[in-house]
Amino acid sequence: MKKKILVTGGTGYIGSHTTVELIEEGFDAVIIDNLYNSEAGVVDRIHKITGVRPLLEVLDLCDLEKLDGFIQKHRDISSVIHFAAYKAVGESVNKPLEYYRNNLLSLVNLLSVMKRYGIPNLVFSSSCTVYGQPEKLPVTEDAPLQPATSPYGNTKQVGETIIRDTTVSDKNVRAISLRYFNPIGAHPSALIGELPRGVPENLVPYLTQTGYGIREELKVFGDDYNTPDGSCVRDYLHVVDLAKAHVVAIKRLIEGKNKANYEVFNLGTGNGVSVLEAIKSFERVSGIKLKYRIVGRRAGDIEKIWADPSFANKELGWKTLSSLDEAMKTAWDWEKILRSNKI
Ligand code: WQD
Repeated sequence: MKKKILVTGGTGYIGSHTTVELIEEGFDAVIIDNLYNSEAGVVDRIHKITGVRPLLEVLDLCDLEKLDGFIQKHRDISSVIHFAAYKAVGESVNKPLEYYRNNLLSLVNLLSVMKRYGIPNLVFSSSCTVYGQPEKLPVTEDAPLQPATSPYGNTKQVGETIIRDTTVSDKNVRAISLRYFNPIGAHPSALIGELPRGVPENLVPYLTQTGYGIREELKVFGDDYNTPDGSCVRDYLHVVDLAKAHVVAIKRLIEGKNKANYEVFNLGTGNGVSVLEAIKSFERVSGIKLKYRIVGRRAGDIEKIWADPSFANKELGWKTLSSLDEAMKTAWDWEKILRSNKI
């Protein structure tokens, strides 16, 4: 009997890639998504990749009654991977209440129905943004959390606290928070990938859109940081490597291999890459000379961060497999397919 896993936000960027990996691992993945930042057609493309069409229930997790009704119809859900959340840092600064309501009410509702129906296992999509600018690099899971620099980042910090407190109060709930560094790229089939709405906030989609000619030039937000080439440093990992970590994490909980009721893992390559190095990677894989201009710093940006992934490597037996160039190539292939209207 296939184990049924609920994937909230499963038509989104990381959610869709994780749904593919769950299906290929033999799980029965069901998706809840309100399609705020994604589209239902992703399910057809997951079907094309895996041969299996996951069930998609379009509902908003903030609607407790509808969520409860759905779970009542799927009492065989054994675990939840929770992606559904608003995730634009800049937008969150302008719309804090929308971010707190959406990201935290949806989580509280989800935990409430998990407790009500005895669903024990939760994997939570968190972010390295909880560390702010770490004092020590590479950053380990026990690094002190800094005050969030955006409401988005705060919803991740508060979200982790809500989950941890729930696992302390109720031993029947076990959870893992996965702190992503910077996911990039797309599935090698180029059937799913990032679908940024409007002007992308994140570097790589803006970079590939510039390469394709949709954007005039890439603005590099500052080259006066205390880094080797002056531009900000991040830990870019391939989205498929990241997706696979979710399968490993949910299996850890299902098989009872977790060593505590609440665990946290950093998911990154362990390598710091600057914006200018990311541009060079794109130029290598595309053969295109990218148009970019150095401009002023972006408010809220931290200078440099990259993971120490050794805890995830050791405890989960997970590590990233794709190089920066391999990940960047999938991002470029996806951009070209997207613009050829084959998607
Ligand atoms: C990366 C670097 C920019 C765009 C955020 C969230 C994180 C996660 C990923 C959701 C920075 C520079 C960017 C551009 C640029 N979000 N840049 N020109 O800010 O590290 O992380 O997005 O899951 O939680 O915090 O990612 O891709 O926006 O920026 O120079 O047009 O690229 O200054 O140094 P970030 P990013």
